[in-house]
Amino acid sequence: MRVLVTGGAGYIGAVLCDHLIAAGHQPVVLDRFFWGRKPLEHLQVETIATDLREAREEWLDGIDAVMHLGGLSNDPTAEYNTGANWQMNAIATERLVALCKRRGIKRFTFASSASLYDTESSANEVERTPAMCDETTALAPRGAYSLSKAYAETAILAAADETFAPVIFRQGTVYGWSPRMRFDLVVNTFIKDAMLNRRLLLHGGGWMWRPLVDVNDCARVHVMALEAPLEKIGGQIFNVLEENYQIRQLAMLVAGSFAIQDARIELVEAALPKLVRNYRTSGAKLSKTLGFTPSVTVLESIENMIGKLPPAEELAHPRYYNVRWMTLLEEVHGSQRGFDAIY
Ligand SMILES: NC(=O)c1ccc[n+]([C@@H]2O[C@H](COP(=O)([O-])OP(=O)(O)OC[C@H]3O[C@@H](n4cnc5c(N)ncnc54)[C@H](O)[C@@H]3O)[C@@H](O)[C@H]2O)c1
Repeated sequence: MRVLVTGGAGYIGAVLCDHLIAAGHQPVVLDRFFWGRKPLEHLQVETIATDLREAREEWLDGIDAVMHLGGLSNDPTAEYNTGANWQMNAIATERLVALCKRRGIKRFTFASSASLYDTESSANEVERTPAMCDETTALAPRGAYSLSKAYAETAILAAADETFAPVIFRQGTVYGWSPRMRFDLVVNTFIKDAMLNRRLLLHGGGWMWRPLVDVNDCARVHVMALEAPLEKIGGQIFNVLEENYQIRQLAMLVAGSFAIQDARIELVEAALPKLVRNYRTSGAKLSKTLGFTPSVTVLESIENMIGKLPPAEELAHPRYYNVRWMTLLEEVHGSQRGFDAIY
């Protein structure tokens, strides 16, 4: 199939393109290339360099399915420019769905987030284990990012009918190596901090829970949805995770992997951050419906990343940290083109 992958040059998107090609599909990447084209340079893929907010029907010429990953992808970038976040993550998704329906494109996957399960009350009780959330759990999301994802989900599901069979993946926090690396995701951050500072900070003691998933497994579920019977998955939401972990546990796994190589990593307690997220999710529905079993554990992924990462001095480059990079882009271009030209 010819598959339009929005955000295809991003952390998950670049890995997803690999998986699509390996499965015999043809990805077409739609991206405004915030992080450039390098993540795709090892692949032969068609690209459409544009902003999702443009919403053009011709993007869908010759397209059989859409995988929608593009947009601002974490809390700090969403809070940095809440207006742009809303336009990109909420409104642009609604418009893309309308275009797909007009063109009769039935298969559509959406990269949503498990952070929708996070609530004020679970965050206030970081020392208590939060309840396990499944796809029927009532949501009370908070923060610009989660609110925009919740709006997008609602718009997608409202459009589902016999002509449009979307699948929503509530992805846990992703870890693992990608040609477009991010070091602002918890496991990846710990590895970077271990390499650069030999020290890992446990905010609020690191007792908070989070579902996690390897970037390859995350890509795999989108590809599985291309091939699964539509009557099984159309209009459905699935949690995507390998396992739920406490942040403290992840720090110990990273420190242990370094200890095996004779590097001593210190674990240090630090103050709670402003936005504390604390939630657990169940992957039972995905496993039952699509037969998904995760193939890469956190531990395996940590070992793999340690072997692959760039040298320590390169790790501090702002391009690996979404909000730091966005801030720089704005400084470089903002004065001539206006803030929204960057976002
Ligand atoms: N990485 C995670 O842990 C995680 C967890 C849950 C959900 N998600 C979701 O998965 C998706 C992919 O995440 P990622 O980690 O690969 O993020 P990323 O930031 O690495 O990639 C996002 C891509 O989208 C592109 N993009 C952003 N705004 C755009 C716009 N307006 N028009 C066109 N292109 C645009 C960027 O250039 C980038 O290539 C996102 O929707 C994110 O919200 C990610």
